[in-house]
Amino acid sequence: MYKIAVIPGDGTGPEVINEGLKVLEAVSKKTGFKYKTRMLDYGGERYRKTGKIMPDNAISELKKFDAIYLGAVGDPKVKPGILEKGLLLKLRFDLKQYINLRPVKLYPGVWTPIKDKGHEDIDFVVVRENNEGLYVGEGEFIKKGTKEEVAIQVSRNTRKGIERCVRFAFEYTKKRNKRKKLTLCGKTNVLTYGWDLWERVFNEVAKEYEDITTDYAHVDATCMWMVKNPEWFDVIVTDNMFGDIITDLGAMIQGGMGIAAGGNLNPKGVSMFEPIGGSAPKYTGKNVINPLAAISAMQMMLECLGEDKAAGMVERSIMKVTGEKLKSLSAGKMGYSTTEVGDLVTEFL
Ligand code: IPM
Ligand code: MN
Repeated sequence: MYKIAVIPGDGTGPEVINEGLKVLEAVSKKTGFKYKTRMLDYGGERYRKTGKIMPDNAISELKKFDAIYLGAVGDPKVKPGILEKGLLLKLRFDLKQYINLRPVKLYPGVWTPIKDKGHEDIDFVVVRENNEGLYVGEGEFIKKGTKEEVAIQVSRNTRKGIERCVRFAFEYTKKRNKRKKLTLCGKTNVLTYGWDLWERVFNEVAKEYEDITTDYAHVDATCMWMVKNPEWFDVIVTDNMFGDIITDLGAMIQGGMGIAAGGNLNPKGVSMFEPIGGSAPKYTGKNVINPLAAISAMQMMLECLGEDKAAGMVERSIMKVTGEKLKSLSAGKMGYSTTEVGDLVTEFL
């Protein structure tokens, strides 16, 4: 019996999570695994009503679950940064979800802005470090408010933090067993402390994986190749900030925010799965947002729980819906409503 914590969150989060839960229920009946969910109201609305995003014991409570299913974070009525830091980043850091795993896969029938590339060309995975780098929030203002003001933002990279991430990436590349190629995406030519350490650790760990081909690309060049030759990539490993940026680019080439999902993984603890598109305030409550990203996030959760058969069924069903039904993956242009897309995925299981 899996215990799943569900945090629908802000904006369109609840709508897309409903569809994910609909598919989860259907696939559990077909394959026979058992689970129970607990709905948690963490997020913007709770913050506006009570001044607290989540209760004080939230982290210790969440540790009792097998997985967390998250909808969206971001409320236009709350100052930017509060919910991002107080909910999403807090969970990623406090639950030591040190990997952010983001598959970039163009499903059949999905439009990509890259001319002449099809679904056989776009299929790679970004392993983003999720607990360090510029996201640690260290820094200071010097002479704040004056003409001489300086703002310092620290990127903290620890050998241990890099090593566990890089090691995960090598293991993942091996297990994925596609092209067996791992690319380190960095900026060794300018960021000569942080990326020097990354490169050294990467090369050290690489020695233990002789069957994996390694490669290096600067982050700017990575952006270029992701558009020009996405078929060159199998798995990319990178730091928190670069990972944030290149995975939005990745989301676009795989068909947009309507389909892009991610997992925040603690390989020895509680992992959290989310559509990466955000709360989309302007579409909230309209039944037009695309729930496929949330359904894909649920599929990643099933994989992580070891329910490979169920995960495979969900993915094939999503592919059928994109290939045979949806006109577009964009909100309001799918040719179906949010709930209808959830129904279609359920029917095709
Ligand atoms: C993401 C998001 C977050 C990030 C924001 C909401 C803090 O953009 O998951 O990529 O920067 O990591
Ligand atoms: Mn992002």
